Amino acid sequence: MTALANPLPFPTKMPETFEPLANEPIFDPAKHLQIEMPEDVLSLADLGYGADAIAECPTDFGVASIFRVLSDEGAACLLDVCRQLEAFTTSNARIARNVRGGTYRSRFLRNLCQSPELTDAMSKITGIPLLPHTIPHQMGHLNYNPLEIGENVDKWHVDTLRFDFVMFVTNPTTVEGGQFQYYKGTKDEVAELAKAGKPLDPAKMVSPNMPGPGYAVMQQGNMVVHRACGLNAPGERITMVNGYVPRDVSFPDFSRFDQLIFADPMDIVASEYGRHVNWMARERATAALDDFAFGANPDDLATHFEELASLMLESARQLRSVDTAKMEHFGDG
Ligand SMILES: [Fe+2]
Repeated sequence: MTALANPLPFPTKMPETFEPLANEPIFDPAKHLQIEMPEDVLSLADLGYGADAIAECPTDFGVASIFRVLSDEGAACLLDVCRQLEAFTTSNARIARNVRGGTYRSRFLRNLCQSPELTDAMSKITGIPLLPHTIPHQMGHLNYNPLEIGENVDKWHVDTLRFDFVMFVTNPTTVEGGQFQYYKGTKDEVAELAKAGKPLDPAKMVSPNMPGPGYAVMQQGNMVVHRACGLNAPGERITMVNGYVPRDVSFPDFSRFDQLIFADPMDIVASEYGRHVNWMARERATAALDDFAFGANPDDLATHFEELASLMLESARQLRSVDTAKMEHFGDG
């Protein structure tokens, strides 16, 4: 059964510790967006996934070629906002400098990340209806180059969300290194190599050629292994990652409280995660109520309740794993 969810609005309350920016541009989609469609798409099958793995995903979309998102003016405004937000970078075991929760501080970033025009374009690219991510910290994630030359911006990993695009905010053509790379293989293949201490195959590493700021790569982020390389010489490298959830909430959820706690403050991540899971459960139940008909199949109904219970039990398990959770990634390859 498909379960097309109603959107979950951005929280009306802001966390007290997130001061809004005092002086920033006003987001205007007509001026700041210049969306162009990607020319090529790799499916999950192209990446090596089998039919069973693909059947568990809402689409067989894997990763698209580079496409434009922002106009020159839009890219300049976002760079201004990101430079202001740089004062709030935090570190974790995977990323030396990132800003999360920037959508609470910047109205420009919030409106860009939730822009219906952008969401529509991402839905077209992936072939399924998407919604802006229901966890605000999964929208407008910003990576800044580590201060140490050569250190990778982010290690090989898959995302704890379904869909996201990685967009260059700074100009990628004026720095040395700093490529975004994805691996033309499956996450199981990479996990096996990492476990055996073997290097990834350089022939399978793809470095899309980013022509300028405001260009992006869209991916099914939990199925595409990717990383962000370090700069080889001093320079500025900022990227923005914007997350989406499939509107059909009947597929397994990839949100990971037990990973987000390594990146985000506990008082915020627990509330955001709880809100997201409650929304998913509500929307699955609402879809079932909307589909009401006599003659329901008991087995189908049992599966529906088992899936609902499993979503909640898995969420409860993660919420109780604060002291035992370990950060997951595949290293520097
Ligand atoms: Fe990622």
